[in-house]
Amino acid sequence: MASQAPIDGEKAPPAPVLVPYHGYQATYSVASPPPPVGRRQRRSARARFLHAFVFAGLALVLLHVVAKHARYLRNFVHDRLHGEPDSDMSTGSGDHRSCEAASWTFDPEGRVPVDQFLHVAEASFELPASADLLFFKSKGAATFAHGVIEIDDSGTAGADVVKVDITAHYNDVEDFLEHTKACLLHPREGEDGVGIFAPMHWVDRDTRRKARWDLKVRLPASSSGSSREIKKLVTDMPMFLHQVGDIGQSMFFDILSLHTSNMPVHVRSLTGDIATVKTSNGPISGRFNTSHYLELHTSNSPVKVDVGLLSESDDERTPTKLSIKSSNGPVAANLSMYATTESETGGQFLVGIRTSNSPTNIAVLDAPVDHTLHLKAHTSNSFVQAALHKTYEGAFRLTSSRFFRPTIHASDVQDPADKGRRRVIETSRATGGYLEGAVHWRPTDRKTRYGSVDISTSNLGLDLSLPA
Ligand SMILES: *[C@@H]1O[C@H](CO)[C@@H](O)[C@H](O)[C@H]1NC(C)=O
Ligand SMILES: *[C@@H]1O[C@H](CO)[C@@H](O)[C@H](O)[C@H]1NC(C)=O
Repeated sequence: MASQAPIDGEKAPPAPVLVPYHGYQATYSVASPPPPVGRRQRRSARARFLHAFVFAGLALVLLHVVAKHARYLRNFVHDRLHGEPDSDMSTGSGDHRSCEAASWTFDPEGRVPVDQFLHVAEASFELPASADLLFFKSKGAATFAHGVIEIDDSGTAGADVVKVDITAHYNDVEDFLEHTKACLLHPREGEDGVGIFAPMHWVDRDTRRKARWDLKVRLPASSSGSSREIKKLVTDMPMFLHQVGDIGQSMFFDILSLHTSNMPVHVRSLTGDIATVKTSNGPISGRFNTSHYLELHTSNSPVKVDVGLLSESDDERTPTKLSIKSSNGPVAANLSMYATTESETGGQFLVGIRTSNSPTNIAVLDAPVDHTLHLKAHTSNSFVQAALHKTYEGAFRLTSSRFFRPTIHASDVQDPADKGRRRVIETSRATGGYLEGAVHWRPTDRKTRYGSVDISTSNLGLDLSLPA
């Protein structure tokens, strides 16, 4: 059934590729082309002399450059081979210069190192919760800079302190101290963070030479029980699993940005005005509430989320936005839309969902009467199932490949506004794999614009349900 040639030009690859982490070194060999045969022209002696002269000059310049950089080159090669920290570590890049190093407690009593590690060390930092920017960064080869960052609300309620507990696992204390650094950073007024630094490049046959980090970021809840505002929290920690606790009720982020790679991001619950989650080759899952913008981007991995979108706007130019992107991984998204008191009608919402070669499942669980939703969803070579809320009004355009005519399921439904209206579903075009139509409540006294839903896939079915 799915043996149809892909129409949209995307090739169907095998199963999703889940690459936990790249530790390989690619090697390339370049074959030099054979010399041209039989076409050599005789050059005049003068031309030959000129060539020789230019060549000698170039060689001289090159020799000079090589001599000048020999030391650097030797160190460079040595570093690559023996894993010494390179210049990036020693000179520091940007805020690394302001490093206030952690003071470690080595092998504290009662702490058992995790698998594959012989030792454990602990340290703590404190950051001001009211900072304009709280940041967490890691830099360096994964061998010495990987682990977990956990963010929860277990700080002292009401205090202006974010406690950051760091646990490091390693095998050799000299290696650990020589090659890594955990820093309290304060690059400028209002900006406070923690950085983990390691050599940028590391190659060593001895796999015991490594370190793993667990960062626990304990945000303080407010003492009044209302949610605590955090102005801006940013992570930039490749190779760190991100785990956010159930802090949707206790914390509110004006801006939150979680950024990693090759690792999952799991969120039990969080609430923010603007939130972005970016990873690659790792799943994103969790429950989110946003009042302006939420971005969830990964690749080669599933996204499974429950998203609440809060809109205070009746202006189509300022919708609350959600963007979900992956590739080769399924997307399952439950959406709930809310209009806050500032909105006189149902709120404005803009949703974009995109993946490839994997099924997509979208369900709008809740939405106000008269809301305006613009939804675009795309995948390829897979099924799409979408369920809109009964309050939805507007167009729908459903596209798949030929022979895969999209289907609509609708059931009888009571007027959610309780005005005795009747739902009308019209199909205006149906050709091959395309279906276009609209759904309205009649008679109408709607003041806001209608929405639009645009869903496409290829080579498999697409089902839109307009449920009760
Ligand atoms: C999101 O907000 C809604 C409405 O205020 C609330 O019912 C829900 O529990 C919130 N979800 C999270 C994850 O905080
Ligand atoms: C979406 O909601 C349905 C029903 O309420 C639930 O079974 C499913 O697990 C939810 N999916 C996600 C991704 O939260």
